[in-house]
Amino acid sequence: MEDILKEKVGKKFRNLFGADPEFLVFAPGRVNLIGEHTDYSDGFVLPFAINLGIVLAFSPTNNDQIDIHAIDFDQLFSQKLSKNSKGPADWTAYIKGVIWALKSQIVQLKGFQGVVAGNLPIGAGLSSSAALEVVAAKALCASSDMDISSPKLAQICQRAERGWVGVNVGIMDQLISACGKRGHAVKLDCRTLDTEYVLIPDGICFIVLDTNTRRELSHSAYNKRSEEVEWAAQILKVRALRDASLSMLIKEKDKFPSTIYRRARHVISENDRVHAFVNAMKNHDLQKMGHLLNESHISLRDDFEVSSEELNIIVDIAIAQPGCYGARMAGAGFGGCALAMVNERFLDDFIHKVQHEYKKQTNIEPHIFSVKSSDGVYLVGS
Ligand code: GLA
Repeated sequence: MEDILKEKVGKKFRNLFGADPEFLVFAPGRVNLIGEHTDYSDGFVLPFAINLGIVLAFSPTNNDQIDIHAIDFDQLFSQKLSKNSKGPADWTAYIKGVIWALKSQIVQLKGFQGVVAGNLPIGAGLSSSAALEVVAAKALCASSDMDISSPKLAQICQRAERGWVGVNVGIMDQLISACGKRGHAVKLDCRTLDTEYVLIPDGICFIVLDTNTRRELSHSAYNKRSEEVEWAAQILKVRALRDASLSMLIKEKDKFPSTIYRRARHVISENDRVHAFVNAMKNHDLQKMGHLLNESHISLRDDFEVSSEELNIIVDIAIAQPGCYGARMAGAGFGGCALAMVNERFLDDFIHKVQHEYKKQTNIEPHIFSVKSSDGVYLVGS
């Protein structure tokens, strides 16, 4: 947990509530190495939790009231836990969603007073919403004296986002925010929730390339993709696309509208790429890893159509730089971030050149930074 964030939330807490917070909880954002738009088809993903995230300082109150001040929005959210009604579609919706989803697990929720702040760019595709859900859920479990396992916590947060916020997300973001492990990516089977921790090879770094573009309609476009892949699974008569292979798809091609065929081809080939990427990681085959990233980008761009002009520009610029093994758009897409895998000896030069070239081509200032792996959510006494 970053000291600056800790101090920031601690100071604000003392200002607002007149005492030190009893606990601090940190939930990380994530980058996904490969396996994009596969989680809601029961597929495979390979994210790692990053050193950027959200910190919540809080003290349990032993009553029915929750008060959370968000420093980044300069807003206070207050509510009785026993009452929950829809409000604005902003950060408070994620908290309300978590309260709603937790109520089905914990008979008597008890509240807290808290202050929250983060250092994740919002809406960029690094899972700021999942990190917010996970910190809130962890704090509510602690203030209600309830011990819930990390995978269960992730499922509750996913339910919050699907059932309350209304985006049909998969489990990846919440799961990695809850279960990440420093130094490792997590190969997650999104059907069984089996996890394999895979060591991140030395000598490389992962660079976030934030295009500084955001898409308003990304939620509805996301839900549309989830309907399309379900449709594809129905045509193939499988439970989810995770159960299909490329040869099955090719055999049934005539039954598919062409868009749905391409959507399915992305998901099925992306699942294969996850397995190949994990093997390459284990063999320290950096060239192969990079190549798979590039293939993933092409598939997301042309078959799944979730990239954007700016994402394509920044990926092309990145791939052309010395020391870059590969790059792809990352996260839900439609704007936001790409991810590049770079030889650490080229890091500074890489950042400088991509920054300069992207600004020149788009007239937009990008935000480019390297990320390190982190543990999943944790709570400490302050
Ligand atoms: C968002 C969702 C995830 C996943 C990714 C795309 O981040 O929250 O569940 O579907 O998009 O891989």
